[in-house]
Amino acid sequence: MKRYSRITGTGSYLPPRRLSNTDLVAQLSSQGVETSDEWIVERTGIGARHFVDEGIFSSDLGLEAARNALQAAGRTPQDVDLIIVATSTPDMVFPSTACILQNKLGANGCAAFDVQAVCSGFVYALTVADAMVQTGAARCALVVGAEVFSRLLDFSDRTTCVLFGDGAGAVVLEASDTPGILATDLHADGKHVGILCVPGHVSGGAILGDPLLKMDGQAVFKLAVGLLEDAARATLDKAGLTENDIDWLVPHQANIRIMQSTAKRLKLPMEKVIITVDQHGNTSAASIPLALDSAVRSGKVKPGDNLLLEGVGGGFTWGAVLLTL
Ligand code: UT7
Repeated sequence: MKRYSRITGTGSYLPPRRLSNTDLVAQLSSQGVETSDEWIVERTGIGARHFVDEGIFSSDLGLEAARNALQAAGRTPQDVDLIIVATSTPDMVFPSTACILQNKLGANGCAAFDVQAVCSGFVYALTVADAMVQTGAARCALVVGAEVFSRLLDFSDRTTCVLFGDGAGAVVLEASDTPGILATDLHADGKHVGILCVPGHVSGGAILGDPLLKMDGQAVFKLAVGLLEDAARATLDKAGLTENDIDWLVPHQANIRIMQSTAKRLKLPMEKVIITVDQHGNTSAASIPLALDSAVRSGKVKPGDNLLLEGVGGGFTWGAVLLTL
């Protein structure tokens, strides 16, 4: 009998410190950086974001999200045999945030590693976990997206610092006789490295190059819209389904205008798109599982619904996962 993987629980966590646009605009204005709530809302759809306090790391956010997901799945840390954390803001250079999270969770002994695909990280991590569950390499995987992007932001650059936030989301993915994940599709094109990057690196005990986020927003925007449509269609084709079979689109939450364009191209009404960018900002690899968990917990998304998850980000990376919840 064919072995499938299925999401059996979702969880998420946001650090308590919430900054509305008004809060952030006031903070930036006191530092001589001019922006406005109107510009941020009109150009991005973002109304607020959460930032961690000092001493809190991606593993701490991921831990809370993981605990919530395990509780929803009715599983304990001892049931977990694989942990994958998607993050571009790891606690340390090494070891992986997955290992640190594993120890905090008390799931010691299982396989644990990070995936680095920036804002597509969760889609990448879920695809890898699905493959490992299908082959029998894992039975009960914890797939986490966790980020503290506030630590990468240049608060003198208004074109980027208003866009991002911190948070974590997680799913428990278990072996199943019936399909949960129906199809996946991943891509990358390294020729676009420069349009979205944190170019610094550690060498000889010092940070060389600029360790803050740089983005050519318009270039990213233009690429994202086309690639997300391609990934959506490729994933639907692989599963032998069409856009009419999608109950919910759960896209990476970067900009409401990108989500509107994707929905339009797929002829999906916006009522079928899960939107949390207004409350979370862009939380990179955490944004899709955060959106998914909020939609599950609000009762919007129900067991049996067909979901298309899709992400795009630095690398350039992009991809989609089609699944039945
Ligand atoms: O998660 C990975 C994927 N990332 C993304 O998907 C981000 C993709 N890109 C975007 O979402 C959009 O390109 C942005 C939100 C980053 C920018 O929106 P835009 O509509 O492309 O704006 P723009 O860069 O064309 O800038 C328009 C104007 C400029 O002023 P001028 O040259 O027209 O006078 C900017 O200087 O808006 C100005 N501007 C701002 N004004 C007030 C840029 N940032 C701000 C700001 N507040 N925060």
